[in-house]
Amino acid sequence: MEWNVTIRDMRKEDLPFIRLIECRCFLDPWPSVCFSQAIDEKGICWSVVLGDKVIGYLVAFKDKNYIHLANIAIDQPYRRLNIASNLINLLIEQAHQSKIKYIKLEVRPSNIAAISLYRKFGFRKFRTIPNYYKNGEDAYIYILKIL
Ligand SMILES: CC(C)(COP(=O)(O)OP(=O)(O)OC[C@H]1O[C@@H](n2cnc3c(N)ncnc32)[C@H](O)[C@@H]1OP(=O)(O)O)[C@@H](O)C(=O)NCCC(=O)NCCS
Repeated sequence: MEWNVTIRDMRKEDLPFIRLIECRCFLDPWPSVCFSQAIDEKGICWSVVLGDKVIGYLVAFKDKNYIHLANIAIDQPYRRLNIASNLINLLIEQAHQSKIKYIKLEVRPSNIAAISLYRKFGFRKFRTIPNYYKNGEDAYIYILKIL
């Protein structure tokens, strides 16, 4: 990772930054309350911070056997610097520590960047959910086996 970029637990005061990034990144952005609830419910919520600015984040939820990677985004100017890779590496580390069997996620078939990222880590397409997104796009479910 370049510059003085750190990953730490997400804080409620990060949410205005996160909401801006979310709106720039997604057709159906999460409202701030979803991030707030994830923090309250002790989800895995990490912010990527450069100086006093949040430039990316990850939200995931741990179940008994799996972790659901629910959201990951890096603000446009900071992409292709391995920041998302660092977040996923941390998540995989956490999955190993918690003896989790697999990590799962949904991704749009049109999201070439995200699919390339996940495939690089060994995630494989498990199935397709037709019409999953509001605009009618399908979702691919990708899985990474841990145990
Ligand atoms: C997908 C996303 C999180 C990747 O973040 P990032 O920090 O740029 O990713 P990294 O730098 O760690 O990239 C790791 C690998 O992913 C792949 N990748 C990342 N961006 C890519 C792109 N635009 N095109 C093709 N492959 C890409 C490459 O294999 C890359 O490795 P390389 O740079 O050595 O070629 C980022 O593009 C993003 O925030 N997109 C908008 C939000 C989003 O779509 N989130 C995922 C929802 S499922």
